[in-house]
Amino acid sequence: MSETRSRTTTSRRTFLTQTTATVVGGTLAATLGGARMAHASGSDILKVGLIGCGGRGNGAAVNAMNAEDNVRLTALADLFPDRVEEAKEALSQAIGDKYQVTDDRCFAGFDAYQQLIDADVDVVLLATTPHYRPQHLQAAVAAGKHVFCEKPVAVDPVGVRSVLATCEEAEKKGLSIVSGLCWRYDLGVRETINRIRDGAIGDIVAIHENYLTGALWFRARKPEWSEMEYQNRNWYNHTWLSGDHIVEQFVHSLDKAMWLMGDQPPQRGFGLGGRQVRVQPEYGNIYDHFANCFEWENGVKVYAYTRQMAHCDNDVEDYVYGTKGRAQVLVNQQQGLINGEPVFKGKKPSMYDYEHKELFASIRSGKPINDGRFMALSTMLGILGREACYTGKTIEWDALFNSDMRLGPTTYEWGDVPSESVATPGVTTFPRGA
Ligand SMILES: NC(=O)c1ccc[n+]([C@@H]2O[C@H](COP(=O)([O-])OP(=O)(O)OC[C@H]3O[C@@H](n4cnc5c(N)ncnc54)[C@H](O)[C@@H]3O)[C@@H](O)[C@H]2O)c1
Repeated sequence: MSETRSRTTTSRRTFLTQTTATVVGGTLAATLGGARMAHASGSDILKVGLIGCGGRGNGAAVNAMNAEDNVRLTALADLFPDRVEEAKEALSQAIGDKYQVTDDRCFAGFDAYQQLIDADVDVVLLATTPHYRPQHLQAAVAAGKHVFCEKPVAVDPVGVRSVLATCEEAEKKGLSIVSGLCWRYDLGVRETINRIRDGAIGDIVAIHENYLTGALWFRARKPEWSEMEYQNRNWYNHTWLSGDHIVEQFVHSLDKAMWLMGDQPPQRGFGLGGRQVRVQPEYGNIYDHFANCFEWENGVKVYAYTRQMAHCDNDVEDYVYGTKGRAQVLVNQQQGLINGEPVFKGKKPSMYDYEHKELFASIRSGKPINDGRFMALSTMLGILGREACYTGKTIEWDALFNSDMRLGPTTYEWGDVPSESVATPGVTTFPRGA
């Protein structure tokens, strides 16, 4: 798809007139690609490759293997050879016979992702640092692979538009794209949000999102590392790699707000943010707190707060206010609460296993799942919140979405890379990196 078409078909106004394509089924039956047809019988072994052998990637590989019998892990890829070695050790123990990775299917470096995609896999798990997700997703879909795609899916609007275009391509090819925005695969959260969307508290008038947690990790610099290696090892603390914690972590809460709002984007957002505690160099250029207000065309506002500081009061919850009452989504281990009544009363599977179960079932049943739209839009909401706080400006969705803002180098090699300064509201201009 051309860049021009991608922009005009994905403006906010276009979203408002489209329904959310979560499950794409029947109409694609005539245009299915070979990759999906190969597994239509439901009995073939699906070969899974993991790109990004860190904590989540290893976890996702185990979840995928838990999800059904006829799957095998056959390939591993990471930027760093030591991460591949650690994953070989950990995963061969964790998944037993389903571990069928041979040394010639282990890859390291900036092109490891492409080598894995070319190594006869059916499904790829994308679990690297977020910056690289649009590139890896595009390559996987171009090669006809089904994808499990961790959140967030991009760090800037150029990346978001690329992901949307790739997911349209996946739809045409009949490929499944399942998002790591895992609350969408939690049966309790699903029921609570569906009941709210069905009118259980009347019309939504406001949503309050809290994601107030302790501090997260950093990796100390080693003298033998180049600046590029240091930033990639310490990726969480560099905005061009992680998107900052409003995109990287808070996207889970922003995604629930978007889901409640029918996956339609807001008109604009403003916000306040900064860094008060995480001020040392190892924390790169990310903030430690953000507070945003996003405004929808129908007058609904989402008030969104995230903080990562030790020794403060924590809370992770979605509070929803309607014309006929109020609800909470995550309360009581995601049982949900609507006007004081618990919502979900059954037993539910681990959402982390369940997302892979649905992915494999969609491949085998010939009804591909395509989570592309919501995973891109929810990521974009985080980017909007970040840019509003970084600049101190009220930012229109359309202006940011259509901007040329792209973070980080355009080619990747070991050596030097600029160290971005910490954004200063009122001084940092919008759009950055254009
Ligand atoms: N859905 C969830 O609940 C959840 C939980 C944790 C993490 N995550 C997401 O998973 C992703 C990874 O997080 P993590 O905690 O596992 O981090 P991590 O640092 O443990 O792992 C990331 C791995 O990706 C590798 N990598 C980076 N760039 C790469 C590239 N270009 N090619 C190949 N490999 C590359 C790194 O070397 C590292 O081994 C993040 O996007 C994070 O937001 C999601």
